[in-house]
Amino acid sequence: METKILKIRQESGLFSPEEEAGLRLAGEVIKGGGLVAFPTETVYGLGGDALNPESARKIYAAKGRPSDNPLIIHICRFEDMRGIVREVPREAEIIADVFWPGPITMILPKAENVPYETTGGLDTVAVRFPSHPVARKLIAYGGGYIAAPSANISGRPSPTAARHVTEDMNGRIEMILDAGDAGIGLESTILDLTSRKPVILRPGFVTREMLDRVLGKVDTDAAIVSPDSGQAPKAPGMKYRHYAPAGQLVIVEGEPGAVVSYINRQAGADKAAGEKTGVLGTKELLVQYRADVVKCIGSRENEENIARNLFAVLREFDDEKVTKIYSEGFSDQGLGQAIMNRLLKAAGHRVVRV
Ligand code: TXA
Ligand code: MG
Repeated sequence: METKILKIRQESGLFSPEEEAGLRLAGEVIKGGGLVAFPTETVYGLGGDALNPESARKIYAAKGRPSDNPLIIHICRFEDMRGIVREVPREAEIIADVFWPGPITMILPKAENVPYETTGGLDTVAVRFPSHPVARKLIAYGGGYIAAPSANISGRPSPTAARHVTEDMNGRIEMILDAGDAGIGLESTILDLTSRKPVILRPGFVTREMLDRVLGKVDTDAAIVSPDSGQAPKAPGMKYRHYAPAGQLVIVEGEPGAVVSYINRQAGADKAAGEKTGVLGTKELLVQYRADVVKCIGSRENEENIARNLFAVLREFDDEKVTKIYSEGFSDQGLGQAIMNRLLKAAGHRVVRV
């Protein structure tokens, strides 16, 4: 199949008549059971009609994703949530008031019309109202309910630019909407509202601290807090190998001087053993590293920038066929929790403390 790429510039939130026509066409593709990749404020999504089981099957096939891993349903108006969940609890209204449209997904008991193909066989459904204007337009033209996982081949880092989507999805889907880089760069926070107390199943841009402030104390899934606990994560997708570059990634934590000398020593030995070596470092330490490929992930002072760059930099190591990668570690407070969650998964939890 030929994948059509449609560029959307969308200056000051306004679409040109051609862009509007393109988005309407993309909506028709979704309603006709096809797949369209689109930008959101977090990462690019791979969209299909959430109420059509055949669309869900196509999404799993295009991603090479196990079909027990449920999809998030994207909406473009709060009221539409009532069409896919059994009831809207008070907490959901509060979260929607404060954070929607925006990068948080809520898990609630599903309504009957939501096919099990979309929820991976679960009786619950994940709902998200993204803020990206292109996503919102597409959802409106596409019938109001778009199921969309991140638009990467299963296991690869999530796409934060249309070129990443093209790398993974060209020839597999009908259309890609290219609206430039995703602003946040990490997937939405997932909050489970089906148990007595709200539980974070996946950390994201909306942090635990922010949720504590509006809901009172929320819990975090034990599998995220201590990944070696042997407990299965409640978001099925969090159990899979994910975000991983092709090369082996190791996180090195400690005082900056010790981290640099450990990494340089290891990279030197790896290189002598025939590996192609890489370092993922912060601006503050970058000039000190010695390796084949040294990539800057941003400044330690700016976590939002680190979040935005992480997946793209992991993909660049793949492009350069690096086989051994060392990364600095980050704080696990605030947005750092989401950054470290993705980095640890990418590293298969290989961490060295020096
Ligand atoms: O930011 C995002 O959320 C992006 C953009 C495209 O919206 N989407 C995204 O989807 O990250 P995906 O499929 O890559 O990740 C969805 C996660 C998976 O870990 C999945 O297991 C979990 O959400 N999930 C979905 N429905 C669930 C449910 N009913 N119960 C528990 N976890 C669920
Ligand atoms: Mg994903």
